[in-house]
Amino acid sequence: MSGGGKRIRPVLVMIACGAVGGEPEKAVKPATAIEILHNFTLVHDDIMDESPMRRNKPTVHTKWDEATAILTGDVMIGHAFNLLPKPVDHPRSGEVFDAFTKGLIDVCEGQVLDMNLNKANNINIIDYVQMIGMKTASLLEAACVIGGNMGLATEDQIGALRCYAFNFGLAFQIQDDLLDLTADQAKLGKKIGQDIIDGKITYLVIKAIERAKSEGDRELLSSLVKFKGLSDDFIPVMREMFERLGVLDEAEKEASNLLDKACDSLKVLPENEYREMLVWFAGSLVKRKY
Ligand code: IPE
Ligand code: IPE
Ligand code: MG
Ligand code: MG
Ligand code: MG
Repeated sequence: MSGGGKRIRPVLVMIACGAVGGEPEKAVKPATAIEILHNFTLVHDDIMDESPMRRNKPTVHTKWDEATAILTGDVMIGHAFNLLPKPVDHPRSGEVFDAFTKGLIDVCEGQVLDMNLNKANNINIIDYVQMIGMKTASLLEAACVIGGNMGLATEDQIGALRCYAFNFGLAFQIQDDLLDLTADQAKLGKKIGQDIIDGKITYLVIKAIERAKSEGDRELLSSLVKFKGLSDDFIPVMREMFERLGVLDEAEKEASNLLDKACDSLKVLPENEYREMLVWFAGSLVKRKY
């Protein structure tokens, strides 16, 4: 965790709390819990994806071993639960606990869908969106729902925050898929092209399957799926194909549309500086390079 990271989820907890009229500082503990939960998912995700690097450091399972990484994740989730408010601490402790648990379960189920996606006979965008909704957007949604509850939001306000966070989350994962190939490795802190090595069904792969007409492109895509990944040498080849088929631009556009949709749902919230921050946060994300 000392590796940093963007800390998007705890910031969302605190801003969401402020946006409904609460005091953001009072949400620091559950915000920390969400960040620890997120870091737990990363430690286990890096085992599943066999990723060598995260936040510019060797991943836990490469520096130590898989058993250590599994246990590290397990301990982290325990610590995270300990930071949630108890009934004596907050009138919405039950809602906060439920949102946290739902986030945890959804991420794990989303990770199963992620692993199964390239076994599907008919790879399609609907299954992809369901998968990223669960593995990524659900945690951003949990962050905003927890923040809202810490600030004693009304039901309508929780609904607005939920919608904002979910669309934000979808955009965030599409950008993550894009950055996996286009980012600068030192800034991203992860190995460029890891999704190609893993044979992941990303937004780019789905759109390329939709658009590919030539024999060569189709063959390349089916080997990626069939062999569950390609060697390092294919990273520039895949990038060239994605670029030529226009899927890199399409990913950027789709993320930007989803972020507009996210911001639209905030109109229900009272006008204040935190609502503006939520809009700004979504806007700054479109331009992210890491
Ligand atoms: C990485 O999340 C995992 C995804 C859901 C895409 P982040 O990109 O928020 O990772 P950190 O916390 O900034 O390292
Ligand atoms: C992240 O998906 C989802 C979770 C960690 C739950 P990725 O596998 O794309 O995340 P990165 O790219 O390794 O950060
Ligand atoms: Mg993964
Ligand atoms: Mg990964
Ligand atoms: Mg990724």
